[in-house]
Amino acid sequence: MRTELLIGGTWRQGADDGRIAVLDPATEEQIAEVADGRPADAVAACDAAEAAQVRWAATPPRERSEILRNCWQIMIDHTDELASLIVREHGKPLADARGEIAYSAEFFRWNAEETVRIRGDLGRAPSGANRIIVHHPPVGVVLMVTPWNFPAAMITRKLAPALGAGNAVVIKPPRDTPLTALRVAELLEEAGVPSGLVNVVPTSSSGDWFDAAIDHRAVRMLSFTGSTEVGRVLLRRSADRVLKTVMELGGNAPFIVFDDADLDAAVEGAMVAKMRHSAETCTAANRFYVEAGVVEEFSDRLTAAMRAVKVGNGFDEGVTCGPMINRQAVVDIDGLVRGAVMEGASVLLGGEPQPGAGWFYPATVLRDVQHESEIVRHEIFGPVAPVISFTDHDEMIRQANDTEMGLTGYVYTTDLAKGLRTSERIQAGMIGLNRGAISDPAAPFGGMKQSGLGREGSTDGIYEFCETQYISTDW
Ligand code: SIN
Repeated sequence: MRTELLIGGTWRQGADDGRIAVLDPATEEQIAEVADGRPADAVAACDAAEAAQVRWAATPPRERSEILRNCWQIMIDHTDELASLIVREHGKPLADARGEIAYSAEFFRWNAEETVRIRGDLGRAPSGANRIIVHHPPVGVVLMVTPWNFPAAMITRKLAPALGAGNAVVIKPPRDTPLTALRVAELLEEAGVPSGLVNVVPTSSSGDWFDAAIDHRAVRMLSFTGSTEVGRVLLRRSADRVLKTVMELGGNAPFIVFDDADLDAAVEGAMVAKMRHSAETCTAANRFYVEAGVVEEFSDRLTAAMRAVKVGNGFDEGVTCGPMINRQAVVDIDGLVRGAVMEGASVLLGGEPQPGAGWFYPATVLRDVQHESEIVRHEIFGPVAPVISFTDHDEMIRQANDTEMGLTGYVYTTDLAKGLRTSERIQAGMIGLNRGAISDPAAPFGGMKQSGLGREGSTDGIYEFCETQYISTDW
């Protein structure tokens, strides 16, 4: 596969011929090198995007839509190859990687359908003197900065609506997982995406890269998925150029189990919400609030389910949780668990990093975790489930909302009215009510509070990549 930068439809080395090593997190071995993009390459990519965008914006929506549909098809046709690449560089189990490709491809199919339905509006001014015409042209050139936890899906979730709306993009894929991004871009050109519309420039020096790209005159928007910490820095920098932004930032999801919940469903949902994609998702259940009457039984059942998790190389049969992305991730998770234990939590399962090669952390369950513990206040991004017992509903809601994050929440109860009331009180952009899986290209993905700005997916997602223009006219 190609490992150079993709700029203006040409594969080329970075300005100073540097390379970035890509490691397999399951073995710590180097599996590839990709070209290391410098600031000059970021600028060249923005130039190429600017040149390609005007023609694309003038292409009939139906034509753009059909190309997007071809992108869906080509990804589906290459599921095995792309899934293997994800396992190699990210480590997640093969079944999850295959699921990620279906999910990634679906953003193209969904947005192919949205591309031909971008609406406008026509009305009469209240005075009757003129007409008001509203339409939605594309933004222009969009910068996309994407994370390593979904090497394909976090790109296509942005890319498909951006292209559908008529934009060109420059992608900075994550340093840890650039291979999938490069291969997807290569396939998209095969599917008919015109050269120059999708530019991919991995880099080992994100700060300089970003500074150069964001100052390019043609760049009109930033779409970012990653931590709130980095998001704040990019937002500040985007403010210098008053860029449109969509920010999908960190989470700290409460998973609430009332004593009338169906516990089989709650444990099954907990395992999905906590463990999908090796527990490295921003939607992950981060803290489990369980009503006192069922906390013993829920903890026992959750521990049994977590004990059945097989941690290992994502290619190995039966593995359901791969390695963490790098050594630092394991160190961070270990620090959170140790801190919680020092503050009184008991370890029902796991709690010690696995020795040997690869960045593995075992499935872990903690009980009697303090609300003040760092592990409750911090996004864990690993296979650790802290359980907290509650008796007072209002106090539990207060604790669930006592965070600057507001991406996701989960509620389990057999009383639908209570479930809906509780969902409405949780300050989060997305709620799983008796469901552990919420992500769907047809639904608005995004957070409240410091979990983000704007939404991806759904019928609204494509408008994030559009401007609104109003034309006042007499007739
Ligand atoms: C994320 O973790 O950033 C995305 C999770 C998802 O799309 O389900």
